[in-house]
Amino acid sequence: MVYSLEPVLWSIKYQPTTWDEFIGQETAINQLRSLAESKTVPHLLLYGPSGTGKTLAAYAYARHVLESEFTSNFKWLNIRDLRSFTISAAKRKIQALAKLDRAARSELDEYMSVVYREAKAELKAKGMTGIPNRSQLLHQAVKMFASTAAVGSDMVKILVLDEADAFDNNMLQALRRTMEIYSDTCRFVLVTPSLAGWNPAIISRCITVHFKAATPEDITQLLSMVSEKESVDIDMHGLNAIIRESNGSMRRALNLLQMCAASGKTITEDIVYAFADTPLTSGVRSMISQALDNKYLKARKALRNLLTMEQYTPQEVIAQVQREIAKRPLEPHTVRHIIDRIAEIDYRMIQGKNPHIHLTALLASIANMVDTT
Ligand SMILES: Nc1ncnc2c1ncn2[C@@H]1O[C@H](COP(=O)(O)OP(=O)(O)OP(=O)(O)O)[C@@H](O)[C@H]1O
Ligand SMILES: [Mg+2]
Repeated sequence: MVYSLEPVLWSIKYQPTTWDEFIGQETAINQLRSLAESKTVPHLLLYGPSGTGKTLAAYAYARHVLESEFTSNFKWLNIRDLRSFTISAAKRKIQALAKLDRAARSELDEYMSVVYREAKAELKAKGMTGIPNRSQLLHQAVKMFASTAAVGSDMVKILVLDEADAFDNNMLQALRRTMEIYSDTCRFVLVTPSLAGWNPAIISRCITVHFKAATPEDITQLLSMVSEKESVDIDMHGLNAIIRESNGSMRRALNLLQMCAASGKTITEDIVYAFADTPLTSGVRSMISQALDNKYLKARKALRNLLTMEQYTPQEVIAQVQREIAKRPLEPHTVRHIIDRIAEIDYRMIQGKNPHIHLTALLASIANMVDTT
């Protein structure tokens, strides 16, 4: 049997590689394109909702600026990897990863385990014991890449720090200092869903580039192109259902199209809804139902499951809670109170407070609010 080497996921197979292939992000792409063409390399902060092309645009920008020196002068780090990061399903902790042999690690995993060892050695050299905290890991990760000169004359290095919403306050402070130390040799491209909670001192050191949520027209354009290439039949209601369910994310729209297409039938609204449920939507739905029914312990268990077993981030969970509350037939003033609490807790989480405690408190107050109305 011959296995195809084609990318399996359409969101990878059809990812934009040239500037013109980015759909619906003219302002952001033109901004990056003209910076790249004039070889202007400031620090950049790309922000906007999920699945709109930020990570790919960061790569496209760096490729254009660095050209043949791309491999030696570019690095991409995901800030979530600086926590307790995992190799795929094994979900091992960073400490465990440092003990694995080379063959078992991917390139990024390899880098991060060296970062971990170096940061630990540095602590030891200072006479301290224990494991490095996230700010120390961040500093070490940047230092290992940025402290050596760029390859090629007149070249800078470009370091993409992706999913930078996972920075806590201490890390943002550390980042500001680190950016200053290495700004002669290295430019930072920070990628984050929103600017909320960002230190103005960091924002003012960067050129900000905004990616907007994909519009129904953008998603239609992408899905029509892919449906034609993959010979997928989709009716108008099916298309509209995918647009509604993808919440402005091109990635989600493509994933949904691909899942529905696997049914082998013309894609209708019913097929889309049958495939649209994810562990996040169904988990949050049952968690909220339990909180509303005063089954607080069960709701708390569902929350723990979403965060630890399914590995959703607290931010993803709270955003889904908000969407779920909006769909419920609750009294308008109850909805207002709950949305208010969600906003307050979202703010506290950005401040780096313990998300488990605050999300549990949110469940308790949802139950209380419904009790007293
Ligand atoms: N503007 C776009 N035009 C065409 N396809 C897009 C666009 N934006 C995203 N996509 C599709 O969505 C996928 C995800 O894009 P990317 O990883 O760059 O998004 P992102 O903004 O970094 O999302 P996240 O915030 O979740 O990391 C791409 O592989 C591509 O298939
Ligand atoms: Mg991304």
